[in-house]
Amino acid sequence: MKILPKHIQEKKNSGTPIVMLTAYEASQACLLDELEIDMILVGDSLGNVFAGLETTIPVTMDQMVYHTACVARGARRSLIVGDMPFLSSQISIEEGKINAGRLIKEGGAQAVKMEVGPADVETVRAIVSMGIPVIAHLGFTPQSVYQQGGYRVQGRSDSDADKMVTLAKTMEDVGCFGVLLEMVPSALATKIAIALDIAVIGIGAGMGCDGQVLVTHDVVGLLDKKPPKFVKQYANLHTEMKRALGEFKADVIARRFPTEEQGFV
Ligand code: KIV
Repeated sequence: MKILPKHIQEKKNSGTPIVMLTAYEASQACLLDELEIDMILVGDSLGNVFAGLETTIPVTMDQMVYHTACVARGARRSLIVGDMPFLSSQISIEEGKINAGRLIKEGGAQAVKMEVGPADVETVRAIVSMGIPVIAHLGFTPQSVYQQGGYRVQGRSDSDADKMVTLAKTMEDVGCFGVLLEMVPSALATKIAIALDIAVIGIGAGMGCDGQVLVTHDVVGLLDKKPPKFVKQYANLHTEMKRALGEFKADVIARRFPTEEQGFV
């Protein structure tokens, strides 16, 4: 059974935690699908993680469509959420509609995620009214890293917190089926999760959210760098891959690979 936004809503209603992870390619998506992860996010974090960029800002719409299609081919059950990259929705409502439509039509996603501020309300409303399910990303929004003053927690002051609650509520009112909160004080995230009838997914937003999302590469330790504070790392695949590839190199140099076993007669 394909997971759809209505199933995410059922989980919110019954208080069942929602699990979301990122994937950028089919083999990762297949693994997450086998684990019955509720939602797979094809995040524009692929700019940092996959493409080695400093920020997500240069990621293009074509790149997001390509990676979303790769992921969609690998997952039958999980709900695929394609991320709207920088400049895909900010110029005009029309461009936002076309680009959200591309993630669904060409990418094979069932929903889109958008980093939002007050200026995006009408675009989100228009995309939802086309029949495209939307998750609104609030709090720290990496596409606005320069405006937000770096990678930092958002909503610490009373006025910023009030604005975030209002925006989250507006996103629910215009029809989003979920809100994603990144790097938000736990108490504020809990308040938003209680105030909203739709699912609130957290990343660095504490225990009071309805679900959690992390970047898969961080969870399994695929990158040779310290993960952010909000990550719990469950494996160190970087070390393990380095060991295996080092053994391969040593075997080739010592003529231990290939053997008869890997040859053809
Ligand atoms: O792009 C992404 O992967 C994200 C997550 C970090 C939530 O937005």
